[in-house]
Amino acid sequence: MKIAVIGTGYVGLVSAACFAGWGHEVVGADKDARKIAALRRGELPIYEPGLDRLVDEAVAQKRLSFTTDLSIAVAGADIVLLAVGTPPRLRDGEADLAFVYAAAREVAGLIDRFTVVVTKSTVPVGTGDEIERLMTRARPDASFAVASNPEFLREGSAIGDFQRPDRVVIGANDSRARELLQALYAPLREQNVPILATDRRTAELIKYASNAFLAVKISYINEMADLCESVGADVREVALGMGLDHRIGAGFLNAGPGYGGSCFPKDTLALLRTSQDHAVPMRIVQESLAVNDARKRRMALKVIDALDGRAEGASVAILGLTFKPETDDMREAPSIPLIEALQRAGARIRAHDPEGIENARAVLDDVEFFDDPYECAAGADAAVLITDWKSLKALDLGRLGHGMRRRVLVDFRHAFDPAEAERHGFALTAIGRPSEKPRRTERAEASSTPETKAPDPGARSTP
Ligand code: UDX
Repeated sequence: MKIAVIGTGYVGLVSAACFAGWGHEVVGADKDARKIAALRRGELPIYEPGLDRLVDEAVAQKRLSFTTDLSIAVAGADIVLLAVGTPPRLRDGEADLAFVYAAAREVAGLIDRFTVVVTKSTVPVGTGDEIERLMTRARPDASFAVASNPEFLREGSAIGDFQRPDRVVIGANDSRARELLQALYAPLREQNVPILATDRRTAELIKYASNAFLAVKISYINEMADLCESVGADVREVALGMGLDHRIGAGFLNAGPGYGGSCFPKDTLALLRTSQDHAVPMRIVQESLAVNDARKRRMALKVIDALDGRAEGASVAILGLTFKPETDDMREAPSIPLIEALQRAGARIRAHDPEGIENARAVLDDVEFFDDPYECAAGADAAVLITDWKSLKALDLGRLGHGMRRRVLVDFRHAFDPAEAERHGFALTAIGRPSEKPRRTERAEASSTPETKAPDPGARSTP
């Protein structure tokens, strides 16, 4: 098949490379001339393990090419994937569909045969209907169908998620479109991956329903972690015990500093807006958003507590900045509010991340960055692990502690073995474990911050 992928961001680029890998002829189109020029030179705009190799191979085999000219991409295409950005609108937090609609209008003017236009970006329910309407208006004579094929890949494991997904969801109201998309995913069907064919609106909602559910699951275990700290239980064991029940499942029960990234915060908010627009309250999703926002704001207090309440003048080494490992993405990263709160409390921040320093510079002020984690911790009063990169989990704690002024370690990801930390003389604070000393700051904060207050979706800013 000939496939045009509009938008060469995370989802677009990974989809383009993977479809090309399955033998299709794929053209990736993007308005950003610099991005396309870089891609043509073999430089990727994002860090994603394995993607560079896949792109190189597909380009060498002439199955994948890049262009700024949409007409080249769309000419003769059987399928046009819309994978442009849908950032939250500053005004009200709703997904901004301006790029999706603009791309669809342009595509309408260019199609020259029956073409299936597919939304791969996460788009609110009803977006497919609107795309169909505006394309019909732009080109009443054109032969096309609009379908939804939401993408569930995670940053950092995008290639594996794409090539071995738990399921594929195809939302099409047109049988030709459904058959074409089923043929596209035939290699996965052969691997017994369930392919769920449904109507377009349902497919659009499945994506939001899944992401919001996972976000709720994380918020749930995070609140459980708070309770564990107070009642003297261990959240990791609680998660293990819960996860062994197959109805619950073990995934996404890792307590941490709150979820970040480009999807969960944005998609939960967008789902909430949809529910409000239809006057169907979704209180669980609303609470999970509030819980997560409050948690991210509150995490700095754990560090201040670990410093015995004295952050003023302290030097704090932050290990890991990105919202999760194996990505350079800083969007909605828990490290940002944490660092800002520590700075407000008078701490000086040194920071290390294996891949995220360049993006972190753009969003953080007054931070000294280090390529080496040991240099970062040298002379610090506390080391704080926020993102559990493999390289950070493998740190030699003896060497880390050797250079530090005080051996205070705050572990937001259960990256370190408590016995090992103790052996090297560290006072360790970890999420969801009984604390050895009373948490003065946190308790004071908890009593003054009503955590159940829902955030005002319109008041949030774009990362
Ligand atoms: C997510 C969905 O998993 C994916 O299906 C969808 O397509 C896009 O959104 P992503 O944002 O790349 O993917 O990362 P994910 O691995 O889901 O993590 C999101 C956030 O949740 C991270 O900040 C992560 O640290 C946090 N998280 C995840 C936890 O705190 N605990 C967990 O158990 C799992």
